[in-house]
Amino acid sequence: IAREAAAQIAEKTGVAHHDIALTLGSGWGKAADLIGETIATVDATEIVGFSASAVPGHGGTLRSIALPNGKHALVIGARTHYYENHGVRRVVHSVRTAAATGATTMILTNGAGGIRETWTPGTPVLISDHINLTADSPLEGATFIDLTDLYSSRLRDIARTVDADLDEGVYVQFRGPHYETPAEVQMAKAIGGHIVGMSTALEAIAARQAGMEILGMSLITNLAAGIQKTPLSHEEVIEAGRNAEGRIGSLLARIVGEL
Ligand code: 6GU
Repeated sequence: IAREAAAQIAEKTGVAHHDIALTLGSGWGKAADLIGETIATVDATEIVGFSASAVPGHGGTLRSIALPNGKHALVIGARTHYYENHGVRRVVHSVRTAAATGATTMILTNGAGGIRETWTPGTPVLISDHINLTADSPLEGATFIDLTDLYSSRLRDIARTVDADLDEGVYVQFRGPHYETPAEVQMAKAIGGHIVGMSTALEAIAARQAGMEILGMSLITNLAAGIQKTPLSHEEVIEAGRNAEGRIGSLLARIVGEL
């Protein structure tokens, strides 16, 4: 089905091969306008296995973009979240489709909650590793793949050539869609987590299986429950994303320019 989707993308965009793929989460959308020249935009619903996002603040398109260096990027503005209950296969379909279009680099971005008090809303953070608390995997059967250096230290180093001050942290994927309790946030902290979210980890596993090199970045849209003293709201997350959009969009565009 990923191959079928990739064939449809090739047909509808006129671009037969993509070199890199980006999934743009909350707050990261602006990067699509800044990395290069959009060749074609396709409605996600036109591609098999994709659906329009049910979540306000998440887009619903796939874009083929010509980068200044002559390469082509596939921008995925349609993410299926695990909490939508369509199963883990649907969650990672976009990543597998990206691999089937030829992409060997997968950039996964998200909006997430910060556990470190020093991260004010709007802070971009490199993902150094993850803890998958969904109790699920996109792999089926006896697929014993290694996840060492899952979030490529080579790509993180490149990102830091663009912004030497970029922090990094361990991303903890919860199922959602509710935010964590303060006790769960303390657990995430105790087991070595720094960022809490509802995406990315399962996608990264599928990207590794597909042989892609992965760069993960979170936009801290708020501090996690109990760390931040005020209640969390989706509106707050969207608002923080909107405020940071220009800045992190250009950061990501500059990083893509160095790949
Ligand atoms: Cl605090 N938790 C999770 N799971 N996802 C988030 C978040 C928190 N803030 C933004 N997205």
